[in-house]
Amino acid sequence: GLPARVRIHEVGARDGLQNEKTAVPTEVKAEFIHRLAAAGLTTVEATSFVHPKWVPQLADAEQLFPLLGDVDAALPVLVPNERGLDRALALGATRIAVFGSATETFASRNLNRTVAESLAMFEPVVARAKEGGAHVRGYLSMCFGDPWEGAVPVHQVVRVAKALLDLGCDELSLGDTIGVATPGHVQALLGELGAEGVPVDRVGVHFHDTYGQALSNTLAALQHGVTTVDASAGGLGGCPYAKSATGNLATEDLVWMLDGLGIETGVDLAALTATSVWMAERLGRPSPSRTVRALSHK
Ligand code: HMG
Ligand code: MG
Repeated sequence: GLPARVRIHEVGARDGLQNEKTAVPTEVKAEFIHRLAAAGLTTVEATSFVHPKWVPQLADAEQLFPLLGDVDAALPVLVPNERGLDRALALGATRIAVFGSATETFASRNLNRTVAESLAMFEPVVARAKEGGAHVRGYLSMCFGDPWEGAVPVHQVVRVAKALLDLGCDELSLGDTIGVATPGHVQALLGELGAEGVPVDRVGVHFHDTYGQALSNTLAALQHGVTTVDASAGGLGGCPYAKSATGNLATEDLVWMLDGLGIETGVDLAALTATSVWMAERLGRPSPSRTVRALSHK
């Protein structure tokens, strides 16, 4: 069966914008986040406290975060290490996300660490965050395929997923960073995680739509009991350190499907679409979301 309700973890302001070449003004990001929350999204990932040279677009995290005090949504932020955690905690962040990789090549390119070294880097971050009462998400990238290593074996993904949970992460987000997954692969991974004792209510899915499979993969995950789905308003996005990564599953495409299935999200699709059209104007190119295009050309 399908769930009655899905929690959408909106990543447009982080995953969506991190790859943009020209700097988006901090005030525009703040308005984007306000509008996403006003459209009914209850979790709006805001920014990353990473090295500013690695992701220049998000180098304004210190300026942006204080503009979000009145946003009526949870505002998780990405934090790779203790330096990032210090920066986030100093601003009052209460939800953080560490981000690991199932493959060595991406761990090295994205974090300048091996998989084992990155887990060691996260250990004090998760421990300190939990001590302070913060909620911790553990992203896991390259869960299906890696642009340098090819198909990623399920057991390899399960091993790192369990390691992230063992560190104390409250939830996992399984990333198809380059959008190569197909529904059978999604069910195989979720099946193996379940067999290894990982509760499905701690697992979210994070699909990029490179091959147009993101919605099919999402439906497969919902059929498997997943109720947390990551998506990016207007389908913005991509990862600067993952060759061939395009935008995430568009939140509008997701909401259109969930509305049709009678699954509650709390999202106002018209308000969300208007937000993505507004953001597309700021970025100077149309949204790649089919639903945004269909609804805005009516
Ligand atoms: P490094 O070069 O190994 O850093 O990078 P380091 O630990 O050697 O430190 C070097 C210098 O950087 C030091 O300064 C640190 O203080 C400073 P110095 O002492 O030389 O003056 N530094 C920092 N400054 C500010 N904030 C920090 C910070 N950390 C160190 N947090 C590092 C290691 C992890 C920092 C770097 O690799 C990094 O920032 N990587 C982030 C990459 C990233 O953000 N990628 C995109 C997000 S992941 C993604 O998109 C996938 C996802 O969507 C899921 C999916 O689709 O699969 C989540
Ligand atoms: Mg991503």
